[in-house]
This record gives sequence, C-alpha cells and structure tokens, in this order.
Amino acid sequence: MSKRKKIALIGAGNIGGELAALIAKKQLGDVVLFDIPQKSDYAKGKALDLEQNGAILGYDASITGTGDWADCAGADVLIITAGIPRKPGQSRDDLVATNLPIIRNVADNAKQHCPGAFVIVISNPLDAMVYEFKRRTGFAGNKVVGMAGVLDSARFSLFLAREVGCSVKDVRAMVLGGHGDDMVPVLSACTVNGIGVSSLIAKDKLDAIIARTRGGGGEIVKLMGTSAFYAPASSAVAMAEAYLLDQKRILPAAAYLEGEYGYSDLYMGVPVVIGDGGVEKIIQLDLSEDEKAMLKKSAGSVQSVVNVVKAAV
Ligand code: NAI
Repeated sequence: MSKRKKIALIGAGNIGGELAALIAKKQLGDVVLFDIPQKSDYAKGKALDLEQNGAILGYDASITGTGDWADCAGADVLIITAGIPRKPGQSRDDLVATNLPIIRNVADNAKQHCPGAFVIVISNPLDAMVYEFKRRTGFAGNKVVGMAGVLDSARFSLFLAREVGCSVKDVRAMVLGGHGDDMVPVLSACTVNGIGVSSLIAKDKLDAIIARTRGGGGEIVKLMGTSAFYAPASSAVAMAEAYLLDQKRILPAAAYLEGEYGYSDLYMGVPVVIGDGGVEKIIQLDLSEDEKAMLKKSAGSVQSVVNVVKAAV
C-alpha cells in the first residue's frame, strides 16, 4: 500500500490557499498549510474549509493548518509563498527588504525539518529569493527551483492565442530570464501548432504582446491592489506534479545555473526537465543574438538584486 505524499505549503495567504485547493482536487497528496504563529488560526480555518470541500468534490486528502514547523517534517514537496506581495506602483525588487528576512527564516526551518523535499519558491523578488534559499540551506541545486517561467509563458500564450483567434491549447510559448520587467519572451520557440508566431502575427502586434507579457503581473496588481494568485498557484502545481508523478515535463523555471547559457552561481529562468530527480536537466536553446542580448540584460538585473541579498547581513 503506498503512502500519500506530503506537501507543505509555507504561507497560507492567497497563493497558499489556491495551491492547497488545487493539490487536493488533483489528489497529489496530503497538505500541510503553514503560516506564522500569529496567523496559524487563519491557516487552520482555511485548511478546515478546504477539507470540508472534499466532502462535496470527493477527495480524501488531509489538509492541516499549522503554525508549527514540526508539522511540516518529512515533506516530499515544499512550496514557499511566505512574504508580502506587491502593491500598486511597487516593483518586485521593492520587496527585498521585507521578504529577505522571511526567506532566511523559512530556509533555516526547511533545512531542519524538510531536508529531503523538492522545493519550489514563489516569493518575490523570485530569482533572488530562490538563490538565497539555496545558499542558506545548502540544498542541492536540482532540488530547489523557482516558479516564474510557467506563469509568464502562460500569460504570453494567452495573449498570443487571443490575437491569432485560436485555442490557447495550441500555443507553445516560452519566456526565459529573470522574473522582472526585462524577462525574455523567446519568439524563436513560440509556435501555434508548429507554425512560428512571427508568420501569424504582425511585428507591431507581437511587440505589444511582449510588452503586455512583461507587465502582466503589474497589470493585475494595478487592478486588484495585490498580486495574482490563481495562475501562479496552477503554475507551481504543474511543477510539483511533474516531480511527484515523474512526468519529465519540459517547463521554464528559475534553475541554478552552473555554466549553462554562460552564467554561474545564479538562478534564472531556463527550460528544464522536471521528474522525480527534481531538475533533471537544463535544456540549452540555440538563442538568436537578440535573445542572447536580452538574456544578458535580464541576468544583469537579477545579479544586481542577488548582490544586495548577499551583502545584507
Ligand atoms: P499573501 O500576503 O496573500 O500571503 C503570504 C503569506 O505569507 C501571509 O499569510 C503571511 O502571513 C505569510 N508569511 C509571512 N512571513 C512568513 C514566514 N516567516 N513563514 C511563513 N509564512 C509567512 O501573498 P500571496 O499573494 O500569496 O503572494 C506570496 C508571494 O508570492 C509574494 O511575495 C508575491 O510577490 C509572490 N508572487 C510570486 C509570483 C511568481 O511568479 N513567482 C506571482 C505572484 C506572486
């Protein structure tokens, strides 16, 4: 008899709640929804609501709310949303001061309680937070990954599908680089059922779609007063599912680079294969000169935030 997998969600806010709901519906395992002690009752209430939801939707997963890291012990997967989201007018990098001590606290506890977990970091500024988590825990690079590329590529795919007037299911789009305003939509890897998007959409329209994709998070923050949470949660669940079910999916994710694309000791969005070995492979695309230049600019932005993080005691 196989035992259900254990998935610990660190942060029981907007994304944490949606993650728990999706994981339960997909029956990927039992969920522990953790938040700081001051919000542990909130986490417990949310967990109870979601467990009761199973009586209607028909799942048996156990969903527990807690403010005690011991309850996360032995988790197979850890998904981290701890920290504050953006408010209108803020950039992701504006969150460093608040979210750095939080990610360090989470890293220290994860190291103690969940040393065997596959870790997906969502907290912003994403590339710097996932870097700091790996540095602080000393976990292997293949077991620590950041979620951004699946979300940014989903936004890009949707805008492309709307412009072409086709199903989003037929669009394959890829966004690489840092999770910032200079992320890199890779046009050479974007197709609609095998047809290159550049032959389907005029250049001025494509440029507008790229600009909207880059500002896709900010567009929602401006409308809602806080960050998106449905699509971010689905994106991280796709990554967790690929690991738990050994799907070997090729997904864009912030991965630890050790020479790939010419960068070392840096997390940045690249296509990876995710299976039961975690990040099993980093795929090296043959980028155009323009794309390489955009990646370099994006890497520079990530590195400057990482330098701030490294310098902070
Ligand atoms: P939220 O404010 O709804 O939830 C965050 C939760 O983290 C809160 O409940 C808070 O109490 C908790 N928390 C704070 N310190 C903690 C600690 N030390 N340990 C455990 N929990 C702690 O925020 P939301 O909307 O869920 O967003 C979470 C993060 O995800 C933000 O930093 C946001 O910017 C980021 N984000 C990242 C995206 C990406 O593509 N990587 C997309 C959207 C949001």
